[in-house]
Amino acid sequence: MRANKIGFFDSGVGGLTVSEAVRVALPDYDTVYLGDTARAPYGARRHDQLVEFTWQGCLWLFEKGCELIIIACNSASAGALREIQQKRLPDYPGKRALGVIRPTVEELSKRGFSNVLVLSTSATQKSQAYPREFAKINPTILVQSHACPRWVALVEAGKAGTQDMRDEVKRELATLSPLEKNSDAILLACTHYPFIKKDIDHAFDQAVPIFDQGDLVAASLVDYLRRHPEIASGLSRHGQRAYFVTGSAKEAQKTAQDFLGYMVNFRQAKL
Ligand code: DGL
Repeated sequence: MRANKIGFFDSGVGGLTVSEAVRVALPDYDTVYLGDTARAPYGARRHDQLVEFTWQGCLWLFEKGCELIIIACNSASAGALREIQQKRLPDYPGKRALGVIRPTVEELSKRGFSNVLVLSTSATQKSQAYPREFAKINPTILVQSHACPRWVALVEAGKAGTQDMRDEVKRELATLSPLEKNSDAILLACTHYPFIKKDIDHAFDQAVPIFDQGDLVAASLVDYLRRHPEIASGLSRHGQRAYFVTGSAKEAQKTAQDFLGYMVNFRQAKL
């Protein structure tokens, strides 16, 4: 019998910040991770490219036996998810794709913050997906979206924790408006940013809680599977995990090991 797994799709290795949090919360579920490192970053891509690349990733994950796909990339969730859900998935009965934006907003809105600063790629910032989703749930929360266009490439280049990275983070955050600086919560709305959480924390004068999405998305997925037992019961649970990237498996392995502190065995995928 073919296993029904959970798939994770990201533009690169950043989505591990989501898949690994899900692994901790739901350790039995079989998962397949796909990072499109050969075409990353996605943060400055056009809408049609985001849709095509993300859909290619979904089709590949379907082939690998995934029934439920988490689009772990914010840029792809903001730019491609709706079109995929409305126009492509109806031809694939039983297959589902969820993004990270709605679950992140649902979880964060429960925490009582009034002024949330959202740090993201340019694609996510331009889409205004976060202010829109927060407004649907709680319009009294002020949500300010700020693009940090240079960070992903530096993370992919292994610069997290270096002086170059700290300088860049400081330079970008110095451009925040007084109202943005006054936020009572910061959301890292890009899967790569948890890799530089310490560098970001270091750049703020006062202590503001900084949230990354791994735990928020994992909590939301646990809740989703509890509310949808018909989906949960169809998923295979042997604790099997597989990791793929479209670019160099060796490079992905190194970045993953630096961040996670343990070895992830990546294989190369061809989309
Ligand atoms: N992983 C993507 C995200 O969460 C950002 C990386 C990229 O620009 O490719 O938005």
